[in-house]
Amino acid sequence: MPTALLSGITGQDGSYLAELLLARGYEVHGLIRRASSFNTDRIDHIFGQLQLHHADLTEPERLAWLLRGIEPDEVYHLGAQSHVRVSFDTPGYTAAVTGLGTQHLLEAVFRHRPEARVYVACSSEMFGASPPPQDEATPLRPRSPYACAKVYSFHLARHYRDRGLFVSAGILFNHESERRGETFVTRKITRALARIRLGLQNRLQLGNLQARRDWGHAEDYVRAMWLMLQEQIPDDYVIATGESHSVEDFLGAACAWHEIEFPDERVEVGVQRLLRPTEVDALEGDASKARTRLGWEPRITFSELVDRMCEADYRLALGERAAAVATGGG
Ligand code: NAP
Ligand code: GDD
Repeated sequence: MPTALLSGITGQDGSYLAELLLARGYEVHGLIRRASSFNTDRIDHIFGQLQLHHADLTEPERLAWLLRGIEPDEVYHLGAQSHVRVSFDTPGYTAAVTGLGTQHLLEAVFRHRPEARVYVACSSEMFGASPPPQDEATPLRPRSPYACAKVYSFHLARHYRDRGLFVSAGILFNHESERRGETFVTRKITRALARIRLGLQNRLQLGNLQARRDWGHAEDYVRAMWLMLQEQIPDDYVIATGESHSVEDFLGAACAWHEIEFPDERVEVGVQRLLRPTEVDALEGDASKARTRLGWEPRITFSELVDRMCEADYRLALGERAAAVATGGG
């Protein structure tokens, strides 16, 4: 039975990837932070099948110790301070976790488990100011502390590959799901509209609606991570749908699902505190290399993604309303 170790197992991608690996017969180990022992919602349904270890990416000795003990065949490095807007407020912390954390993990693999294959989560955010379409050859022009930390991780992945490790770097474009963190724009929208419709929330505040993103579904994207580590040689791969939409398009589609006419006075846009000091205007990926070499392609379309997220959040909000009524708060 192959053994996999995941950093970031409590996150959106970690939860889908853990499901995929269990279904393929892996023994799955995951790193969790002490604080997140109570934040395991996304993996509660598979909790008994996982082996979880307390660790933080800022602790190199702990990572080395775990690598020696677990002896994984595959390591998926997904852990990060992953919020772009937050990285402007916490640039040092973001560098320590998202950048240096990658260094600690790769060094631990290099010293203690060099036969392991490693996936490093990089990001389309690294392309920043480079216009679309973006592929593996597009210049990196990062526009946020988060993106700078991912550029560092990307170069580390290539550096350790040069030194003989099997390290593949995934340059994934935005991918969302019913499990997406609630402060990323898609989930913020689907969650808020459902709650507004049921009278649980009064308004939704948003920043820049003109930015364009290439949005796919996380379920499709974790399959690409696994495929990268089954290849003969490690490499860098862009993973994207090849189709972009503005934040306004996403908002419009979600409003349509709820039969809310947009613009609506309950939705406030251009809110100053939600604008970024430097924005990435347009991301649209060209995943031809992954399609040809990995045989990967996305299965879930943009409109299916919107529908799935709206439906899941509507059900969640119905549950919230029922609970409020039962406790007399409705
Ligand atoms: P996510 O939901 O924000 O999950 C991040 C994970 O990292 C969580 O499990 C979190 O643990 C963990 N983490 C944070 N700080 C840590 C630390 N100091 N030590 C150990 N673990 C820590 O992110 P995601 O959407 O699943 O994304 C997975 C990876 O892909 C990230 O590296 C992200 O930057 C990258 N990426 C994501 C996208 C996307 O669109 N989703 C696109 C490109 C790249 P807690 O639960 O304890 O907070
Ligand atoms: N979060 C957020 N909140 N974004 C908003 C809002 C808001 O209220 N209003 C408008 N936006 C705009 C942002 O300015 C940005 O242009 C776009 O919506 C997407 O923002 P996010 O959903 O926060 O994602 P991101 O593109 O910045 O970053 C995500 O994708 C990257 C890959 O390109 C994250 O998952 C990163 O971890 C990932 O690397």
